Amino acid sequence: MNLTFGDVQETALIPLAIKASETAKKKPRIVDLKAKEIIDTLGVDVSKYDPFLSHEGVVARTLMFKRKLKELIAKYPYALCINLGCGFDDKFIQVDNGRITWVDVDLPDQIEVRRKVYTDRERCTMMGGSALDGEWTKQLPKAEKTIVIMEGVLEYFSKEQVKTCLNMLCDSFESGFLLAELHSPMLEKYGTKHHDCVKHTNASFGWGTKTAEEYIPLEPRLKVVSEQSYNDEMKKYSVRGKLFALVAKNFNNRLAVFEWGL
Ligand SMILES: C[S@@+](CC[C@H](N)C(=O)[O-])C[C@H]1O[C@@H](n2cnc3c(N)ncnc32)[C@H](O)[C@@H]1O
Repeated sequence: MNLTFGDVQETALIPLAIKASETAKKKPRIVDLKAKEIIDTLGVDVSKYDPFLSHEGVVARTLMFKRKLKELIAKYPYALCINLGCGFDDKFIQVDNGRITWVDVDLPDQIEVRRKVYTDRERCTMMGGSALDGEWTKQLPKAEKTIVIMEGVLEYFSKEQVKTCLNMLCDSFESGFLLAELHSPMLEKYGTKHHDCVKHTNASFGWGTKTAEEYIPLEPRLKVVSEQSYNDEMKKYSVRGKLFALVAKNFNNRLAVFEWGL
């Protein structure tokens, strides 16, 4: 593997660093051997990307996305699953039932870098493509249900870009679910400068929402199935997590599930 530090976009480095450090713990809540391998190989100090709140948030979202995804896959065992904006994430092995078809999609230059550490597997392949342009979707096999995962991606989009992405998904796939990480207007306003991790990067937060229902006017074919704050998971593990859940009652990130083409 000849991955170098410059290969890894800073925003993709955050979940990687956190998943690697959680994996190295005595009693890890999530195990991501690939993340650990990548961070160990880079051999650089990534502790600034791993402060307490971001750590707990990434652990919470990983567990919550996995749970929801498993529920949906149990219902649609032959679904086409697309991890859109996959970065270095390896969700396939967490949820594979031996029957799903999985595609890891990211911008072409990011997929090129991903190929340095991953190879295509049976029913799990990589593809360059953008969330803002559906050209790549034409190459995908047809499936009864498509499940799109966008974890840590829409947070960086403007409202116009979110609309483009939602319209593209509903135009490209007849029937599907979108599992998306959403953030609050508070994070949009103050997060770029004050978020414990993102402030160390060049990234800035995009359009924030108070509720997933705010997505519907942008793409009326969507329906909100569920929405849950990361607080629900974070408060299970520590007093600090509990306190944060109280303080950040209305502004922690959420996992929203949307459905279309019922
Ligand atoms: C914070 S990382 C999250 C990576 C991964 N989902 C995770 O949770 O570990 C954001 C990812 O979104 C990707 N991204 C940004 N704009 C995109 C676009 N227009 N289409 C597809 N991916 C995009 C970036 O390349 C990056 O890999």
